[in-house]
Amino acid sequence: MKVDRSKRLISKLKINSPVTEQFKLIRKGIEFAGIDNDYRVILVTSPEAKSGKSTISANIAITYAQKGLATLLIDADMRKPTVHQTFLKSNLKGLSTALVGETTLLDSIQITDIENLSVMSSGPIPPNPNKLLGSKKMAKVLDDLKKQYQIIIIDTPPIRFVSDALELAPYTDGVIIVNKSGVTKKEDMFQVLEQLRMSRSPVIGAILNNDKEKIEHQYYYSKKENY
Ligand SMILES: Nc1ncnc2c1ncn2[C@@H]1O[C@H](COP(=O)(O)OP(=O)(O)OP(=O)(O)O)[C@@H](O)[C@H]1O
Ligand SMILES: [Mg+2]
Repeated sequence: MKVDRSKRLISKLKINSPVTEQFKLIRKGIEFAGIDNDYRVILVTSPEAKSGKSTISANIAITYAQKGLATLLIDADMRKPTVHQTFLKSNLKGLSTALVGETTLLDSIQITDIENLSVMSSGPIPPNPNKLLGSKKMAKVLDDLKKQYQIIIIDTPPIRFVSDALELAPYTDGVIIVNKSGVTKKEDMFQVLEQLRMSRSPVIGAILNNDKEKIEHQYYYSKKENY
């Protein structure tokens, strides 16, 4: 049976549900962490697969949109893209077609039913995602998008298996690392932090995602100093 990813969005929950509140806390954490640096282009990644990156990036994007900021969620996971499924959109055009010049930026973006939130799905899966994501064209696309959107959240593949997120991270203002409770090993987290440091990509913080505990305890935000 096909899973309906759109059900995982906080916009489907009651306005003050505990999960919505946890995502607002994450947004506030990012804002506090960004007092000295303005975090407008935020990359979400994790050491391993299935940690909740896509769920978390979509919901963080929604909290910014609900605050009234013009927000764009980009699916830079060209290996296992999900943004188009989550927002029930087509994936014929998107980041890959914009990067190879097949579509204009405007044509590559789709509005959602959530006010202030647009999405750029991955587009058809290219043979060389890491090359595209690390290209000068990618940096230019982000610069152009920054003129139109106040916040850009980027969903990416896991960092330990493919280089895509590491290629892209230096073009962003900061990285959020999603750790899966009971799964992510401390040494893997340290390795990811080191890789990001070497690529000169600022780490904003980490989220510990626990899909086993009661829903109100699921999301925690901590600054990188805790690691
Ligand atoms: N806190 C949570 N509580 C319950 N289920 C969760 C939670 N976080 C994620 N999930 C579920 O875990 C699965 C994986 O989540 P998601 O697709 O967001 O992970 P991902 O890190 O993007 O995976 P991938 O590495 O494949 O891109 C999904 O079915 C999602 O609904
Ligand atoms: Mg994902």
